[in-house]
Amino acid sequence: MNEVLQLGSEYFSGQFGGAPDGLWSAPGRVNLIGEHTDYNGGFAFPIAIDKRTTVAARARDDRLLRVTSSSFPGVVEVSLDHLDPDTLTGWAAYPLGVAWATSRAAAGGASGRAASRISGVDLALTSDVPAGAGLSSSAAVECAVALALNDLWELGLDRQELARIGQLAENRVVGAPTGIMDQSASLLGATDHGILLDCQSLLTETVALGFAGAGVGLLVIDTRTSHSHADSGYASRRRSCEDGARRLGVGSLRALGPVDLPRAAAQLDGQTFRRVRHIITENQRVLDTVAALRTSGAGAIGPFLNESHLSMRDDFEISTPELDLAVASAQELGAIGARMTGGGFGGAALALVRNDDAGTVAGGIARAFARAGYTAPHIFPVTASEGARREL
Ligand code: GLA
Repeated sequence: MNEVLQLGSEYFSGQFGGAPDGLWSAPGRVNLIGEHTDYNGGFAFPIAIDKRTTVAARARDDRLLRVTSSSFPGVVEVSLDHLDPDTLTGWAAYPLGVAWATSRAAAGGASGRAASRISGVDLALTSDVPAGAGLSSSAAVECAVALALNDLWELGLDRQELARIGQLAENRVVGAPTGIMDQSASLLGATDHGILLDCQSLLTETVALGFAGAGVGLLVIDTRTSHSHADSGYASRRRSCEDGARRLGVGSLRALGPVDLPRAAAQLDGQTFRRVRHIITENQRVLDTVAALRTSGAGAIGPFLNESHLSMRDDFEISTPELDLAVASAQELGAIGARMTGGGFGGAALALVRNDDAGTVAGGIARAFARAGYTAPHIFPVTASEGARREL
C-alpha cells in the first residue's frame, strides 16, 4: 500500500475503528482550454491531475451515514431516511449530497432491487487537492464518494451517470449552477491524455498530450485569491449566456459558430454580445487546440491558450488582476502559452512551459507578485493522471 492509501486507511480506523471495506480515489482537474462552455453544450478539454481525494469506506448494517474529513474536525451523521438536500450544509454537503443523489439515481434505476441494497456507510476522506484554487477539490470528493457508493451498493452505474450524480449534488445541494466538466474530468481522466468533452452529446474522447516527449509540462499558478461560484459572477455569466441564446433563437450557444457573430452583434446589447462571443470563439479554440496537438504537437497550442485568456479577460470578464499578472508574466518569461483556468474570479492560472524553463518562469512570476504587493502565489507542476478508481 502506498503512503497516501496507508494514511487514508489509518485515518478511517482512527475515526471509526476497524478496517474499511475498500479505498477509492478521484483526482482534481485542470482545464487546458474551454471555459464556461460546458453549461452551454460546448467543448472543453480538461485533464485529471496528480492530486487526489481518497475515501476509505465501509458498509453498515443500519441506515446511518457517517462522514469525516481529515481537513475538518468531527464526524457528521445523518440517517439515509432523513437525507434532505435542502438542509445539508458545510463541507459534509459534498459527500452527503452525493449519497442523496446516488440513492435517488438508484431508486429511479431499472431495478427496484438496487434500492434495497442501499445501506448506511462510514466514509473517511483525505485529500491533497488544494481547496479554493479552482482545481475542483469538490469534484474530487464527489467522484470518489460516488464511485465508492456505486461499488458498495452494487449499483452498476457507469461513469457518465456518476458524473451527473456529482453535478446534481453540486447544483442542488451546494447550490452552484455548474456544468459537467469537473466531474467528467475527474472520472474519465487518463495518464498523459486530455479529455475532449462534447457537453451536448456527452461524448468524450481521450487525446494524447505528448507533453513528456515534447519536453514540456504544465505549471499551475494558484493566486491564492478566493473565488466562490455560488455567490460570485458565475451564475450571472450563465444567465447572460442563456439570455443570449434565447434572444438569438437557439436552445444553447453550442448551436452557433463564428459565422453567426455578425448577427449576434446586430441583435444583442454590447455586454451580452461579448459573453456570447467568448463562448462561440472558445468552442472553436478547443477544437483548434486538439487539432494542433494532433498535427503539430504540444509546442503549437500556445496561441490558443493565450487567446483564450484574452477572451476571458475582455469578453467574459472573469479574470482578476492577479490572474492577469500570472499569465502576462508567464508569457513574458517564455511560456509556450498561459491562461487563467476554471470558473474565474480568482483561483489559478496555468502555463505550458518547456521543462528547461520551468524554474525561470516560476521564479519570475513569484517576483512579479512580490513587486505588485500581491500574496505570494503557490506554483507547482501538474501531470495528466488517471481518473477515479478503486484502490483497494
Ligand atoms: C467551474 C464549473 C465548471 C465549468 C468551469 C468553467 O469549474 O464547475 O462546470 O463551468 O467553472 O469552465
